[in-house]
Amino acid sequence: MQPSVRASEQRERMPEILSVRDVGFSYGGKRILHGVNLSVGTGDFLTIEGPSGSGKSTLLKLIASLLTPTVGIIEFDGRDMRSYPRPEYRRQVSYCFQQPTLFGTSVRDCLTFPFAIRNQRFDEDRARRSLSMMCLPEAMLDSRITQLSGGERQRIAVARNLLFTPRILLLDEVTTGLDATTKHVIHDLIARYNKRDGVTVLAVTHDETEIEAAEHLLTLDGEGMHTQR
Ligand SMILES: Nc1ncnc2c1ncn2[C@@H]1O[C@H](COP(=O)(O)OP(=O)(O)OP(=O)(O)O)[C@@H](O)[C@H]1O
Ligand SMILES: [Mg+2]
Repeated sequence: MQPSVRASEQRERMPEILSVRDVGFSYGGKRILHGVNLSVGTGDFLTIEGPSGSGKSTLLKLIASLLTPTVGIIEFDGRDMRSYPRPEYRRQVSYCFQQPTLFGTSVRDCLTFPFAIRNQRFDEDRARRSLSMMCLPEAMLDSRITQLSGGERQRIAVARNLLFTPRILLLDEVTTGLDATTKHVIHDLIARYNKRDGVTVLAVTHDETEIEAAEHLLTLDGEGMHTQR
């Protein structure tokens, strides 16, 4: 029997926003995750850790509807995630890739995308503000994507995810490779979205400081098992 994970000790008070029930996933014949149970309350901040290859990104991709569970059910806001039209679901549950793909030629192209999928005109002021929130110069809007550093790409990807506030933010090692000061600013920013706006955050990390500071911690152990501290 697999242990159940309860991400929110305040579940009685905070309505559950995400429920993962007996979820398993295999690539080809290889079992990556099995018997994953997870209950996340609205506004929770869940940190996810585990060795490389233990299935952390896979779990986030399942929750983001980029992969489909082999078995089990994922519920968002009390409904099977499969019952939502996919674009609607992805507007509410936003996944930031471990190795982000930035669309288009320039940063402007990339940040236009969230507006385009909502049939909205590009708001340049908002895009500039989102860059400065990430400690990036506003002038970077016209930089070419190929000329960005890894850390800059990562932060532009987070800015893109936060142009429109999601209900759930799935962060896949977004502070990896950043210097301490920038990391700090990103932590504060994410914490603000979490505490002030009630955005539920699931954040994968290998960073010891982030793991120690975790409000709720999910550990994947690489055997398809998971435990919670
Ligand atoms: N597209 C794929 N096809 C086949 N196997 C895959 C695919 N993507 C991932 N895997 C395998 O699934 C396992 C889990 O991968 P995943 O990316 O979820 O790990 P992770 O915990 O995020 O690791 P890391 O800390 O290195 O990012 C690994 O063994 C990986 O090789
Ligand atoms: Mg990963």
